[in-house]
Amino acid sequence: MITQTAQVRQQFSNDFHRPTYHFLPPSNWMNDPNGLIQWQGRYHLFYQHNPDLPIWGNMHWGHASSPDLIHWTDLPMALAPTPGGVDEAGVFSGCAVNHNGVPTLIYTGTRGNHCEIQTQCLATGSADLLTWEKYAGNPVLSAMPPITQQDRDFRDPYVWQEGDIWYMVLGSRIVGKGGAVFLYRSTDLLSWEYLHPLLTDTGQNPDGIWECPNFFRLGEYWVLIISGHLGSATGEVGYFVGTYENLHFTPLTQGVLDRGCLYAPLTFLNDQNERILFGWLREWRTNDEMLGAGWSGVQAIPRLLSLDQQQRLLMTPIPALNSLHHDALSLAQKTLTSQVDSIAITGHALDIQADLTLDANGTCALRVLCAPDASEYLEVAYDMAQQQLTVRPVLPNMDDRLIGARRDMPHALHPNEPLQLRILVDGSVIEVIANERTSITSRFYATQPNAQLQYSGSHARLDKLDIWNMSSIW
Ligand code: FRU
Repeated sequence: MITQTAQVRQQFSNDFHRPTYHFLPPSNWMNDPNGLIQWQGRYHLFYQHNPDLPIWGNMHWGHASSPDLIHWTDLPMALAPTPGGVDEAGVFSGCAVNHNGVPTLIYTGTRGNHCEIQTQCLATGSADLLTWEKYAGNPVLSAMPPITQQDRDFRDPYVWQEGDIWYMVLGSRIVGKGGAVFLYRSTDLLSWEYLHPLLTDTGQNPDGIWECPNFFRLGEYWVLIISGHLGSATGEVGYFVGTYENLHFTPLTQGVLDRGCLYAPLTFLNDQNERILFGWLREWRTNDEMLGAGWSGVQAIPRLLSLDQQQRLLMTPIPALNSLHHDALSLAQKTLTSQVDSIAITGHALDIQADLTLDANGTCALRVLCAPDASEYLEVAYDMAQQQLTVRPVLPNMDDRLIGARRDMPHALHPNEPLQLRILVDGSVIEVIANERTSITSRFYATQPNAQLQYSGSHARLDKLDIWNMSSIW
């Protein structure tokens, strides 16, 4: 039986920009992952969704479930704005918890012409998670801490339990200081006590907001993830690793989680005690282009999180992704030269894993989605002397927007550490993770359905190059 959503998905089958193994809704707009939870063994993903258009607006919670975090079944809409209610302008981001056996969503309800009245709300679900009832006493939290000196940015509850106590962090900002995360506690999820700021920005981005905070234990440390919104431009995702004692967080290290299009990530713990991160992969297109495409927004392949010895965040695409591998292609060891070599590939859905050894002055470049005449491609390059990873689009008409889409990120290798690249290509999505710790996700809208892979370098050796074609998940 072909379901209705499968029919909608079918309409896009000739769109080579549209991913086939990353999750996205049947059509229209998606942004943040919401309410991630494993429930009776099955994974549930909720997401910020505009069901009417492929541009942001009228926020609902879409819903899908999965046995393995890779294959998804579309489910009915979980939450919609209630006319006249405290979420009438949009149901913004939030999380899911198991409250004594009752599935519970905690989210931000918005009102006002610009969604500027933001309060925290609750909804409880049926045992199958298919129907949701909003709490009659919503909102459960409306007053903002006076320290903020503003009254509009206060959102994205992230809740966890320690013993009998529930804790919550909320994203916000303090006037003149910038992004802030506030800590709360409760015994019943209904009445919340404000404790103090968990962390605030240092003041160099006074107009910034910290959205979508995540705070969780990872091994011996605690990790705070924030999505930094600067003025009207959507920003970058940062993380802090530190200690958490007596309700106070002391960061020891900090880093950039991704320097590309990944934004508003949300993590959860599964029944194997694995900490898994989803993230919204933004489009790098105009509203007109998104309206033309009919869809917008993709979820990153879920990443398993851990820390290395230096308290840096490590991210590995979940192993279940390998179940999509087919028609592998491997290249034997090879010295790279400035002469560009090509490999013909048939599809736009690939998992590429490359290990390289570089001399002190070595460089290397892999071009994916490359046209046979090399007139367009996305380049993933590394420069050993600069200790820098670069992802750069090349298209025939390079305008400022495309030039600005280049991303550089410091990436230092330890002595004798090879450069390990994991590159997930899927239509217009390219996720690049180097040595599990440096992440640059990109969007690349080729003008033709290019499929070549090209590579070159100097003072560098390709130790291993494995390429798999990836099956569609639909
Ligand atoms: C992050 C965000 C959240 C908000 C949601 C609205 O992308 O701005 O702060 O809850 O999107 O869609």
